[in-house]
This record gives sequence, structure tokens and C-alpha cells, in this order.
Amino acid sequence: MAFLRQELAIDLGTANTVIFKDDNVVLDEPSIIATDTKTGKLMALGTQAQLMEEHTPPGITTVRPLMNGVIADYDAAEMMLTGFIRKATGRRKSILAPALRVVIGIPGGSTPVDMRSIRDSASHAGAHDVEMIYEPMASALGIGLDVTAPNGNMIVDIGGGTTEIAVISLGGIVESASIHIAGNEITTDIIDHMAQQHNIHVGRTTADQIKFAVGSVLPELDEAEEPEPIAVTGRNMVTGLPLEATIDYREIAMCIDKTIAKIENEILKVLQKTPPELYSNIVRNGVWLAGGGSLLRGIAKRFAAKVNIPFHVAEDPLKAVARGTCLALKGSDRYPFMMK
Ligand SMILES: Nc1ncnc2c1ncn2[C@@H]1O[C@H](COP(=O)(O)OP(=O)(O)OP(=O)(O)O)[C@@H](O)[C@H]1O
Ligand SMILES: [Mg+2]
Repeated sequence: MAFLRQELAIDLGTANTVIFKDDNVVLDEPSIIATDTKTGKLMALGTQAQLMEEHTPPGITTVRPLMNGVIADYDAAEMMLTGFIRKATGRRKSILAPALRVVIGIPGGSTPVDMRSIRDSASHAGAHDVEMIYEPMASALGIGLDVTAPNGNMIVDIGGGTTEIAVISLGGIVESASIHIAGNEITTDIIDHMAQQHNIHVGRTTADQIKFAVGSVLPELDEAEEPEPIAVTGRNMVTGLPLEATIDYREIAMCIDKTIAKIENEILKVLQKTPPELYSNIVRNGVWLAGGGSLLRGIAKRFAAKVNIPFHVAEDPLKAVARGTCLALKGSDRYPFMMK
């Protein structure tokens, strides 16, 4: 009976957590908590905690419990997941709480220890039944691809901590790579660039704002896509006085070029290992991009020019994994790739 059982599909990402319940997004918040430094007690969760990030006095600590897609701080992850599950279901701690089943997306590169840590953390957060699905498989489902068909599809998910590349056919991952170069790295490139070229010391929050406003992987965009330059104020690293600079997309395209090239090379490597029939399918179907990194301007065009295969950005790429996890949850008896 539905009211005795609740089901959640969770994308527990390095940067963001997205939860679907009954086909709807019920939670979409940054993966971060704020705790009391002395007692370790939870002070804020998700969006509220992110507002505190880089603004904390000594008594408050903010923690991002995931690194490179997997749990790095177990206690913090459990606290965060418990809080998010409570928010998503409206449930309180009670023996009368309905049974809770969750399906969680995990990176393709997860080790058995990583998987155990996710499972334990979800159980402690109140889940009675925990299943997992590899994130590239989830993205493919979320994009609407027929993952069980004898047809090769390639997914590239550029998240916060990891870029996952996978070739999928007949319900399985045939070839894949998972690298720790993604959105966080791009933000770091921007911080370094601001320091080296403009003598301005900016934090990650500001660097992210620059990335969203003028992030581009091409030094020449179509006119319709060109963003307005952004004015950035920060501390002059030499004089300590406030300094303003105007940053345009061409500058960002240059400073993140090496990082994007690393992702490109990894895509090429996976394509080189892909069996010929699947390769032909991919050339015909194109490659699908998901994750927040796929929102960088010009990315499909740049990758397509590099590998000579069309690239498509998923609709709502930040939610592809969670949406696919939700589809997997509903069809789990039909899907061979769900893991307990
Ligand atoms: N409009 C945008 N332009 C460029 N980058 C963006 C944009 N929006 C989000 N991002 C970046 O995308 C990343 C977050 O993407 P996403 O939510 O897919 O990651 P995640 O699933 O939390 O991480 P992972 O999959 O590595 O565990 C962050 O680095 C964020 O800065
Ligand atoms: Mg992700």
C-alpha cells in the first residue's frame, strides 16, 4: 500500500543533491552542511549552509561531505542525508514511519568500500531498503535513451567532482572512464586566473559566479550566445585595497582550456576502446552531455569539432541522474543493472 511505503530517488552529488519522489523534484540543494565546531551539532543544511560557506566565524564549520562523487566524511554525509531525507518525506523519527525505499546514483568508479559507505549512511538516515545504480546509466535513462536496446549510446556527465564517461548497450556499461576533473577544477582555474592575471583574490563563491555568468569553452561564440562581461570586485593581493576587474567569456575560455582539453582526451580514449558496432551507433546517435559542466557555453560545439561526432546537451542536465534514478526505481524489476 502506497501510504505505508515511501520511495525516493536520490542523486547524492559532490556539488548538489537532487531527490525525486513520485515523479517530482522534492529537493534540490547543494551538498553541504554547517555544524557547531565545538559540539558537532548540525546548524544548517543545504542551501542555508551554502550561504554560510566562506563566511563562517571560528564557532561554525561548513563541510561538503562528498569528494569526487564519493563519501569523504562519513559522519557529515549521514547527517546531511538524514536531513535531506527528512525534508523530502516530511517524516519524523518514529516507529510508525512508513517503510522507506531509496535508490541512489553512484559514480561508475565506486569501490566496494564506497558503496558500503553509501548504503550504511542511507540505512542510518532511515532507509529500510537501499538500492544503487551507476550514475551514467541513470543519466542515460533520465535523458530518455533506451538503455536496454542493442544500440550503443555514449554519456558524458561533467559534475562537480567527477566527469563520468560511459558507453551503454543492452542494459550494461560496455566501456567507461571516471576522472576527477570536473566543475571544481574549472572553478579553481578561475581563482588562479584572477590571482595571476588580475591580482585579485576571489573565493570559490565568486569564482562560481564568474563561471555561471561568462563560462565558455570557445574563444568565439555565436553572437546570440555571447554573455555580457561581468564586473568582479575583490582584494588586490598586493596592496590589500579593493580592486575591480571586468571579465569576459574569452578570458574564461582561455583559462579553462587545459582542463577542458583533459576531458576531451578522456572522451577520445573511451571512444578508441569502444567496439566497432557500438562506435558506429554512437556516431549516428551522437554523444549526450549531462551534469552542471555541460552548461558551459559552446561545449557541444567544441567537443563535436574535436571528435567529429555530434554532441547534444541533455534537457535539464543537472537533474538527468536523479530523473533516471527515479525511472529506475519504478522499473527496477525489469532492470538488470540495479545493485543492492
Ligand atoms: N551554468 C553553469 N555553467 C557552468 N558550470 C555550472 C553551471 N551550473 C552548474 N555548474 C557546475 O556544475 C557542477 C555541479 O554539477 P552537478 O550538480 O551535475 O554535480 P554533482 O552531481 O553534484 O557532482 P558529481 O557528479 O561530481 O558528484 C558544479 O561544479 C557547478 O559549479
Ligand atoms: Mg553528478
